[in-house]
Amino acid sequence: MRLLPSQLEALLLSSGFLSLSIIMEGETSWVNHCPDYVAPDMVEFDSFSDLNDEDNRESSSVHVDLILPDDLLERILAYLPIASIFRASSVCKRWYEIVSSTRFLWNFSQVLSQKPWYFMFTSSEEPVGYAYDPSLRKWYSIELPCIQTSNWFIASSCGLVCVMDNDSRSELYVCNPITKCCKSLQEPPGLKFSDYSALAICVNKKTCYSVAIVKSKQVPGNFFQWDLSIHIYDSGTMMWTTPLTEVLTGWRGGDESVICDGVLYFLIYSTGGGGPDNRHGLITYNLSSRSSHGLLIRTFIPVPCSLTCGRLMNLKEKLVMVGGIGKPDRPDIIKGIGIWILNGKEWQEIARMPHKYFQGFGEFDDVFASSGTDDLIYIQSYGAPALLVFDVNQKQWRWSQKCPVTKRFPLQLFTGFCFEPRLEISP
Ligand SMILES: *[C@@H]1O[C@H](CO)[C@@H](O)[C@H](O)[C@H]1NC(C)=O
Ligand SMILES: *[C@@H]1O[C@H](CO)[C@@H](O)[C@H](O)[C@H]1NC(C)=O
Ligand SMILES: *[C@@H]1O[C@H](CO)[C@@H](O)[C@H](O)[C@H]1NC(C)=O
Repeated sequence: MRLLPSQLEALLLSSGFLSLSIIMEGETSWVNHCPDYVAPDMVEFDSFSDLNDEDNRESSSVHVDLILPDDLLERILAYLPIASIFRASSVCKRWYEIVSSTRFLWNFSQVLSQKPWYFMFTSSEEPVGYAYDPSLRKWYSIELPCIQTSNWFIASSCGLVCVMDNDSRSELYVCNPITKCCKSLQEPPGLKFSDYSALAICVNKKTCYSVAIVKSKQVPGNFFQWDLSIHIYDSGTMMWTTPLTEVLTGWRGGDESVICDGVLYFLIYSTGGGGPDNRHGLITYNLSSRSSHGLLIRTFIPVPCSLTCGRLMNLKEKLVMVGGIGKPDRPDIIKGIGIWILNGKEWQEIARMPHKYFQGFGEFDDVFASSGTDDLIYIQSYGAPALLVFDVNQKQWRWSQKCPVTKRFPLQLFTGFCFEPRLEISP
């Protein structure tokens, strides 16, 4: 009997082998190019639907496994969501070898793009939490490498996550949270104790990456002037450079920045004097041309309306901002949430959170967490573990599956970040 690949895939999936909810305890490294690789331990939640009849599962999967040639099995496996790949790797030696080969890892990244995940911290001290997979609508307990507390600075791009400590701001790591591959970077140059730092990372096509830090510090004894400096790390040369320093008057840097299509964007904040409409502004710095002259402030782009807080993200190399819209008379009070995309120097509103979702968070703080990549945007109130997902292509708002995190005390704060789950990339 000959089966079509699609039939085989269906059979394989329905066999239940690939949707077993188990704790992974691999001991051997299957990502060869990363010596410190520790097999991930993913504990899956909300998996009741996967608890099928045990006996059926055994018989049909053994059968399917026997009749499948390697290349077909490889092609089928390449279509599975990433969490299933982990499970597949522990099924047997043959499957393990297939999914740990370099060829498979690269093909896997080409076949289906995995939707970005959201990691939600469950504690403000320890770096523990759960990651949400929007394709399967499941939460996984994963451990983040390197990071020591949840108040570290975090940025991500194409499967890599960059973290920096929030005290000395000298400890920096780039890691892949799925494979746990991790690399420590040299301490960034510039001001030792900056008041504000903004961290961004971008992976370019050749799997090289750049990390950018915008530091800003008040000029001593001066209320209106701030020293601002841009520092760039290049993974190719493994060196930091400081292409630009400047003194801003009436504005300071903050902690919000992102790189899209070779351009570094960051928000600056008015230090007083301006009206409420003018509390945030956007600055752009072209990393390709790296000009070291010309004033940054000349690139100033005003935000589209009075914001309580703005979050920047890279959606398919376009700059997108999610912002809390302030009331005209009370700019600290949030009345809604808008999403804008930057076209040239103009902001175009692409969505506004419908009122029922806004209310669904309960009390919404004037500041909140939001991050996104590809075509998904996650929005999370600091006050509640609820997570809202906006699909930019389908213009669809949707709550995530309920997170296993519960609020333990009234002032508990929730934060998180978005990253792409990828197997083939390492720092
Ligand atoms: C992986 O790529 C190779 C060569 O590019 C190709 O021959 C093979 O069929 C691909 N496998 C999958 C699983 O797509
Ligand atoms: C860094 O620490 C300061 C002070 O505790 C805090 O206000 C800030 O939010 C932290 N930054 C991040 C990125 O969590
Ligand atoms: C950035 O600079 C490069 C090289 O000068 C140029 O080709 C590119 O168009 C610039 N990008 C933007 C967005 O201005």
